[in-house]
Amino acid sequence: MKLNPFMPGRTIDPRFFAGRESEIKKFKMFYRNVKQGNSLHFAVQGDRGIGKTSLIRYLESLAKTDKAIVVRLDMDASFDSLNAFAKALLSKIRKEGQRYSQLFKVSETFRKLFQERSVSLDLFGASIELSKKEQIQSFELQDKLSEIWLKMAKNVPAVVIMIDEAEYLEKIEGAFQYIRNVFARLAEENCCYMLVISGKLTLFRKIKEIHSPLARFFNPVELGSFNEKESREAILKPLQGSEFEMSNTVINKIIEESEGHPYIIQVYGFYLCENSPKKNIDISVFNANYPIILDSLSQQLFSDYYHLASNAEKNILKLMANDDKNTIQIVDVAKKAGKTTSEISYLFERLVEKDSLIKTSRGKYSLFHGLFKQYLKQVEYKEYL
Ligand SMILES: Nc1ncnc2c1ncn2[C@@H]1O[C@H](COP(=O)(O)OP(=O)(O)O)[C@@H](O)[C@H]1O
Ligand SMILES: [Mg+2]
Repeated sequence: MKLNPFMPGRTIDPRFFAGRESEIKKFKMFYRNVKQGNSLHFAVQGDRGIGKTSLIRYLESLAKTDKAIVVRLDMDASFDSLNAFAKALLSKIRKEGQRYSQLFKVSETFRKLFQERSVSLDLFGASIELSKKEQIQSFELQDKLSEIWLKMAKNVPAVVIMIDEAEYLEKIEGAFQYIRNVFARLAEENCCYMLVISGKLTLFRKIKEIHSPLARFFNPVELGSFNEKESREAILKPLQGSEFEMSNTVINKIIEESEGHPYIIQVYGFYLCENSPKKNIDISVFNANYPIILDSLSQQLFSDYYHLASNAEKNILKLMANDDKNTIQIVDVAKKAGKTTSEISYLFERLVEKDSLIKTSRGKYSLFHGLFKQYLKQVEYKEYL
């Protein structure tokens, strides 16, 4: 059986990691500063499937090579309070600390701090079940983290705390301010902590918010699609050392049609390798698998975007899909819908917020992906049946 080197939906194996050079460079520069006691933090934002988790996993492997302690927390809907967050963070740090003590030579105080039965890492001893309203004070978490740092500073260059799916934190009132307070104070005490947060964040989206104190603290970067060179890398790296080959025509087709979207590239690669009757994937294999690929993308990606839209918004999407032009003026859509521009402009704004539309310039919009356009045409056809 041939091994399929593409895995859509799975975090990319660091060996197959493509692109993101400027983000990696920035991380390395920040990390170097953190080790010297000059704290800098990093936020990665971007749409679903664009590669946020893959990037922070890659950064995790870089920091671990330098023997840093790296703690990765995945947020989800169950994190509905700062208490839950603080508890999860401390318990992850304890686990990583234990693992670290087994891997490397550490001091006795370090080892004791992370021992299974040690209670020193609990926030409030027995009273840990606080009601939701009784939020813990930021100084309590800060004190714990500061204690931890002091006991391991001699052994560890830095502690990197990664928080993925951080959009769930946005739902907890004041969470980012709280985190900022905790880590700003820790920096004043020369504790070498670095935060890397990532997710579909709305926190830094608007111009005003890009200049906010929070943004200055978290240094957000927006992850986008790959350029042509990076897309090629994302296709070729998994193929190298695999049992498959791809013709240039096929590679160029994938680059063109995926528009450099990392998840979409993986889906193409996966189905082509999965269903290829031969070692060499040529255009005939590509054509034979095309319907399956589009079907998978529709189910795994595009239908989510579509079903997030309200009925009125869906109508806008369909009108956009049925226009020959890719970039469309809002006035033209208004005419087709028999409405005035001001009557429908809020729908465009909402669709931009939901990532289905991209605003290309004033009053002009396009669908977020060319294949999403194809999907929408099909949806309409299916609804007529
Ligand atoms: N740098 C990369 N190089 C190659 N493939 C990538 C890269 N980043 C992401 N991918 C692929 O894209 C898909 C989505 O990536 P993921 O990190 O889960 O995105 P997100 O966390 O933004 O939703 C995965 O299947 C992964 O294999
Ligand atoms: Mg992710």
